Amino acid sequence: MANRQPIQNQLLEYVKQHEDDDLETSTTNSGNPLINKDASQTIGPKGFMVMQDYRFFDQLQHFDRERIPERVVHAKGAGAFGYFRVTHDITNYSAAKVFSSIGYTTKIAVRFSQVTFEMGSQDTVRDLRGFAVKFYTDDGIWDLVGNNTPIFFIQDGILFPDNIHILKRNPVTHVRDWDMFFDFFSKRPESIHQLVWFYGDRGIPDGYRHMNGYGSNTFSLINASGELFYCKFHYKTNQGIRNLDAQKAREIAGNDPDYMLRDLYNAIASGNYPSWSFYIQTMTIEQAKTSPFNPFDVTKVWPHGSYPLIPVGQLVLDKNPTNYFAEVEQLSFNPAHFIPGIDASPDKVLQSRLFAYGDTSRYRLGTNNQQLPVNAPKRFKNFSRDGKSTFDSQGGAPNYHPNSFGGPETDPRAVALSPRLRYAGDVGFYDTGFEDNFTQARALYQRVFDDAARERCIQNIVYDLKNASAFIQQRQVGVFSQVDESFGRRVQEELGKYQPLHAII
Ligand code: NDP
Ligand code: HEM
Repeated sequence: MANRQPIQNQLLEYVKQHEDDDLETSTTNSGNPLINKDASQTIGPKGFMVMQDYRFFDQLQHFDRERIPERVVHAKGAGAFGYFRVTHDITNYSAAKVFSSIGYTTKIAVRFSQVTFEMGSQDTVRDLRGFAVKFYTDDGIWDLVGNNTPIFFIQDGILFPDNIHILKRNPVTHVRDWDMFFDFFSKRPESIHQLVWFYGDRGIPDGYRHMNGYGSNTFSLINASGELFYCKFHYKTNQGIRNLDAQKAREIAGNDPDYMLRDLYNAIASGNYPSWSFYIQTMTIEQAKTSPFNPFDVTKVWPHGSYPLIPVGQLVLDKNPTNYFAEVEQLSFNPAHFIPGIDASPDKVLQSRLFAYGDTSRYRLGTNNQQLPVNAPKRFKNFSRDGKSTFDSQGGAPNYHPNSFGGPETDPRAVALSPRLRYAGDVGFYDTGFEDNFTQARALYQRVFDDAARERCIQNIVYDLKNASAFIQQRQVGVFSQVDESFGRRVQEELGKYQPLHAII
């Protein structure tokens, strides 16, 4: 159809696919024939509706329950399906089946998302983007729930609710509040690396196809000999990095709030399948002990010079969802879903995430969310039973262990590949947020950004920071100055164009 995008033709495509089908009759949700879809049952054409109109109640009660809670973060998103194919042998690092041989292919689901605002928000706001990958492996589900940035704002999950509150709406005014935003960030300097990245060019990607993904947290890989390596995951776009200029992004936010969703759908529907090259960085236990930075601190990257990227494979997306609600809204990721050969690390943010996602999935989708077709593993066999809306309560298999009637038993391969680590230390509450926060933020600002990128970063910051109270502006400028003296000075100069800085309250 001339001048129409694939995303506009969904209904026409539906008709094409179903033109040979017999016309179907409509039913209630329990399969009983409807009598009149366009009229409820009343006493005469002008009279009361009658209680016995079950068919009417059936439709309204279902409609009343159509919405489920949106994700507390990452509510707005787009999903697609495809595969991961191994191109390089990394079995010396991990015995995970997903990496088992060159050419080995695993089906995947991907969900891209904005982090901060609601389901109906604009795609082109300045924000981090989610890039979560579900691998349907022979050993169960592996969820790599990454972002488009290698780092994060905080080092400890106990600050996550606060970090998210200040990004979202003021509880009274219900609009974003730049006092809340910069008050928190200027008081938690571990956020500075992520904040510089956020206000840099990659803070507004030109669509999901043009951004990288990063597992961000530190993970563990275990090889067939039981050796453990710490690991970072990177997935780099083969479409090339492309970002949106801040002004253009604001225009698009008004004209086409679903810009990124549309771009992904159209590309896949046109056979222009996006792909990403998948890499790991690895670190031995010995290297981790002597590292000058904490390798389990998600506000830090592992410098490429010391920890080069090792190629692994390709992620390819070649299928759009057949139904958004069923396959994207109900898609649920959990960083605690590991497979033998891949595991967690002492990264505190990862440790916090191991709890949060399963918990929120049970709230959002229910006890048996892992049985929904889009979340389901190839097989599961255990002693869990029942719960709301179960699809598979495992028939007559024994529901207790140990039993004498046929297992299931522990998988010896999973036992052999489970990490064995020795840790010792005093139990306590350690606030690590004031250790070296500036070396890597400085490398990003001074070395990775060029003059023009630094200037854009400053302008992007001032666009928001000018709205904060003067004493908060001043504290935040102080943090930028610790990255680079001229950085703080330039931000201060630009702020001065809007209002003079006042003394700290
Ligand atoms: P390198 O010079 O080897 O790497 C710099 C990396 O920065 C690039 O490879 C690219 O990451 C990324 N980059 C390029 N432009 C931008 C931008 N405008 N905004 C954000 N990131 C950008 O140096 P190091 O590895 O020593 O890292 C130096 C700094 O680079 C770090 O402090 C960090 O801020 C940033 N960085 C480092 C990454 C890492 O894993 N080492 C990853 C991303 C950023 P990519 O290749 O992933 O596209
Ligand atoms: C979504 C918690 C840090 C990436 C979510 C959700 C929660 C959550 C509760 C909603 C999930 C759902 O409703 O299904 C946390 C906590 C964190 C944290 C407590 C830190 C302590 C991170 C980090 C990353 C990340 C560091 C990236 C590396 C994502 C992504 C989603 C998400 C991509 C969306 C998943 C989807 O598409 O369904 N997070 N998060 N989060 N988070 Fe985090």
